[in-house]
Amino acid sequence: MNYHDPVLFTECLEGLRLKPDGIYVDVTFGGGGHSRGILDQLSDKGRLFGFDQDPDALENVPEDSRFTLVAQNFRHLKKYLRLYGATQIDGLLADLGVSSHQFDEGSRGFSTRFDGPLDMRMNPSQELDAHRVLNEYTLSDLARIFRKYGEVKNPMSIAHKIDTARAEGAMETTQQLVDLVSDMAPYGKRNKWLAQVFQALRIEVNQELQALEEMLEQANEVLSPQGRLVIISYHSLEDRLVKNFIREGRFDGQAEKDFYGNVLTPLKIITRKPIVPTEEELQKNTRSRSAKLRIGEKKND
Ligand SMILES: C[S@@+](CC[C@H](N)C(=O)[O-])C[C@H]1O[C@@H](n2cnc3c(N)ncnc32)[C@H](O)[C@@H]1O
Repeated sequence: MNYHDPVLFTECLEGLRLKPDGIYVDVTFGGGGHSRGILDQLSDKGRLFGFDQDPDALENVPEDSRFTLVAQNFRHLKKYLRLYGATQIDGLLADLGVSSHQFDEGSRGFSTRFDGPLDMRMNPSQELDAHRVLNEYTLSDLARIFRKYGEVKNPMSIAHKIDTARAEGAMETTQQLVDLVSDMAPYGKRNKWLAQVFQALRIEVNQELQALEEMLEQANEVLSPQGRLVIISYHSLEDRLVKNFIREGRFDGQAEKDFYGNVLTPLKIITRKPIVPTEEELQKNTRSRSAKLRIGEKKND
């Protein structure tokens, strides 16, 4: 099966405005679709670093001396780039979330469609998994993640139901979770609602929003003037962080101002509105449906 079809491929490559001799980073290497597109436009002097915290992605590494795979979480972007002697970069691409490969592999526990263990780790060697979240988190912590990361209307009821069920014995599989909570879904919206419940768990397990914030801050530090930040997000929580960061250089929507009240932001907004997939792409790849691409450009110092 195909590992992953790259989303908004042409739009991302155009957005990076690649310089053939430049140094680029694809922080979500995955199946390497976007990375291969970048390499195609680089000269012999160009370099590309790919990050992925899932060792499965290693099988997609191209044989190309200009490419280096860093099998790490992108929250350590700056440290690993420094290790490889790259202190400044000309552009960074992030295509957030999980790959089709991770979704479609039932044993990873990401999908509501297959029975599997309560895992949901992108990096299989980290300790926190969905099993631990569901069986060990307090009632209020469970409610918090369903509210904050799932944006469901009934977070406390879901948390209560899980808490009551686990008193009878640990929950082990994704199917057990689906069977337990499905009847709480709003009428006619079962699949969408279950996806939100799973999304909440996945975001918590992988600390996705924290990693995104850390990566964006470091990206801003390593980008050269006129270097591009090109980010695809797939849900409103990620998109809000990306939008605020490109607009304000921070996440709370409060841009820094100078003595005279002029807004001081490190990035120029290239996309006032996010770029979304064309009808043609949506037809070909339904998984692109929630994608939003935003681009920022590092200002001159
Ligand atoms: C949507 S896929 C990217 C697909 C890729 N653009 C392609 O064309 O095949 C996201 C990938 O990023 C990885 N990933 C997500 N968050 C990460 C993080 N914080 N650090 C490192 N890798 C991450 C996932 O393991 C997954 O392989």
